[in-house]
Amino acid sequence: MNVGVPKETAQGERRVALIPDVVGSLVEKGIEVALEAGAGAQAGHPDSEYGDAGASVGSADSAWGADVVVKVAVPTTEEIGRLRRGQLLIGHLAPLTSGATNEALASHGVTSLAMEAIPRITRAQAMDALSSQANVAGYAASLLAAREAGRFFPMMTTAAGTVAPARVLVLGAGVAGLQAIATARRLGAVVSGFDIRRAAWEQIASLGGRPLELEFIPDAEAEGGYARPLTEEENAQVREALAEAAAKQDVIITTAQIPGRAAPILLTRQAVANMAPGAVIIDLAGDSGGNCELTEAGETVVADNGVKVISPVNLPSDMAAHASQLYAKNVENLLALLISDEGSLSLDFDDEIVAGACITHEGEIRNERAARVTGSEQRATSS
Ligand SMILES: NC(=O)c1ccc[n+]([C@@H]2O[C@H](COP(=O)([O-])OP(=O)(O)OC[C@H]3O[C@@H](n4cnc5c(N)ncnc54)[C@H](O)[C@@H]3O)[C@@H](O)[C@H]2O)c1
Repeated sequence: MNVGVPKETAQGERRVALIPDVVGSLVEKGIEVALEAGAGAQAGHPDSEYGDAGASVGSADSAWGADVVVKVAVPTTEEIGRLRRGQLLIGHLAPLTSGATNEALASHGVTSLAMEAIPRITRAQAMDALSSQANVAGYAASLLAAREAGRFFPMMTTAAGTVAPARVLVLGAGVAGLQAIATARRLGAVVSGFDIRRAAWEQIASLGGRPLELEFIPDAEAEGGYARPLTEEENAQVREALAEAAAKQDVIITTAQIPGRAAPILLTRQAVANMAPGAVIIDLAGDSGGNCELTEAGETVVADNGVKVISPVNLPSDMAAHASQLYAKNVENLLALLISDEGSLSLDFDDEIVAGACITHEGEIRNERAARVTGSEQRATSS
C-alpha cells in the first residue's frame, strides 16, 4: 500500500497534503509514501525532511501512480487524467460546485473522498478539514485587516496622545468568524459579532466580543447545527440593521456561508457608503459569491468613498506551514479509518464518514447532491 503526495499546481497554493511528521507515522505503520520532489517546499518542508521521515522523493508520475493520492486543492481535469481505475483520491474536490470534477473522477473510475464532505459529527472532528482550514482563515483575516486598516487595533496611550482602539465587526460566527473575533480581541480591538444562529451569540461573548443581537430574526439554526437560509424579508431586515452598524466600524470581516448555496449578501452598497474613508472589509465568502455587494473574489475593490473591499480566496495558503500541519493531521486520521491493521486499504461504505465523504466510486457519482451539480460549472478553489 502506498500513498502519493503530488505537488500542488493551483495558482497561489502553497500548502501540502502531508508534512514530514505525518509521513513518519505512516511509514512506521508499514505504509510507503511517494512524494513529488518539491511538494512541501512552500510549506517550509524541503525534500530532505521527507527523505529523513522515510518517504521516497521522486517524480510526479510516482506520486500520481500511488494506490492512494492525497491532495489539498481541487484537481484539474488533466490531473484527474493521470489517475487510473480503482485508485483512491483524497482532497478538496468542491463536489457541490464543480460538476466537471465529479464527472471526470467518475469517468476515470476513481474512488474519491472529498475533505469538504466529511460529516460534521463528533467522531469525525479530527478529520474535519473545513474547520481546521477555516480556523486558519479566520486568524489570517484579522491579521490582514489589521495590516490594511492603516490604524492600530489596540488603544495606545503615548506621549503624542491617546489613540482609540479599532472597532471590528465580524459577520458569521462559525469556525472562521470565531477565530477572527478571538484574534482581533488579542490584538486589542473592540469587537462585535453577528450570526443568525443564537448559539453563536454566547460563543461571541465568551471570546470577549459583543454579540449584535438582532432579536427580530428567529433562531436560524437548522439540521446539523448549520444555519437555514433566511427569507427575503428577513434578509432585507438584516441588511438594513447591518448598514447602520457598519457606519461605526473601522473593519468588517465577513464569513457567512450556507454549504452548497450562494453566500448571503449582508453588506449593501449603502452599508459600504456609510463607512468612513479608510475602513476595510475583508470578505471570506468571495468564493461563493461574497457577503458584500461590491465583492469581487480574489480582488481588492475600492469604493467611491475609499473603503477597501478585499476578498482573499485562499488565506490558509498564506499560513501554509500551520495550515498544512493541521490538514495533514486531518488526512492521517481519515487514512487511519481506511487502512486495516494489516496495512491494506478497505473502504467500509456502511461507515457514515466513508459514505458521507465518498463522491465517486466504480464509475458512478455516489453522492446525491454532487450528482445534481452540472459539469459546466468551473473548478472551484479550495479553502
Ligand atoms: N464536527 C462538528 O461537530 C462541527 C465542526 C465544525 C462546525 N460545526 C457546526 O457547524 C455550524 C457551522 O459552522 P462553520 O464554521 O462550518 O460555518 P460556515 O463556514 O458554514 O458558515 C459561517 C457562519 O455563517 C453563519 N451564517 C449563515 N448565514 C448567515 C447570515 N445570513 N447572517 C449571518 N450569519 C450567517 C452560519 O450560521 C455560520 O456560523 C456550527 O453550528 C458549528 O458548530 C460542527
